[in-house]
Amino acid sequence: MIQDYPEAYLGLCETLGLDQGIPYTEKWSAGADFLQILVDQVHERRPARILECSSGLTTLFMARVCQLVGSGGVISLENGPRFAQASRIALESYGLEAWAEVLDAPLVETPLEEQHWQWYDLAALKVDAVDMLVIDGPPGFLQPLSRYPALPRLADRLAPGAVILLDDAARSDEQAIVERWVAEYPDLERRWHATERGCAELHWPAQRA
Ligand SMILES: C[S@@+](CC[C@H](N)C(=O)[O-])C[C@H]1O[C@@H](n2cnc3c(N)ncnc32)[C@H](O)[C@@H]1O
Repeated sequence: MIQDYPEAYLGLCETLGLDQGIPYTEKWSAGADFLQILVDQVHERRPARILECSSGLTTLFMARVCQLVGSGGVISLENGPRFAQASRIALESYGLEAWAEVLDAPLVETPLEEQHWQWYDLAALKVDAVDMLVIDGPPGFLQPLSRYPALPRLADRLAPGAVILLDDAARSDEQAIVERWVAEYPDLERRWHATERGCAELHWPAQRA
């Protein structure tokens, strides 16, 4: 596990007792401000089922909060076998295996509305009624609107009133994705968090029209 990380993570690590290091990488890890939002959301909402697209610090931090509050659990879709394994090792090193599962979910051809994306294979995903959906992958460089499939592919697995958190939302691609989602699901409510990379918070309706 990588021991060195920027000071911005220190407070969170201390609060959560993550004192043996975290699997931080400068370019790829979620920012401390995004992690703080996730930590606060799990504390406040106590979601029974958290699903995330991409694994890493997000998985570790949310799993730790689930353990601390004694409820909930994280399922993480990860396309990179070595990143999936690194996330599992981090979870194990903190005894968090019961609070998060990292699924191998290779990117597969995903047709949607006459377009094609490389997006997670959902074959191994058995959950539905997801209360919190965290989207931090797949990486943006792969294709235009890389994270767009998350909502159309997972909509039928969302519980009424689910919260959706999209990282990197200050990027033009992510802004276009949010506009497209809101156009397709007009009863979505949205909120903006001015984190360094931007975070869009969306609320799935409690009752769908
Ligand atoms: C933005 S990263 C996800 C970060 C994760 N949510 C976290 O908090 O650490 C999106 C994806 O990039 C890939 N990735 C992670 N580290 C990488 C690296 N060092 N080089 C290339 N791809 C990487 C993984 O497949 C990961 O799911």
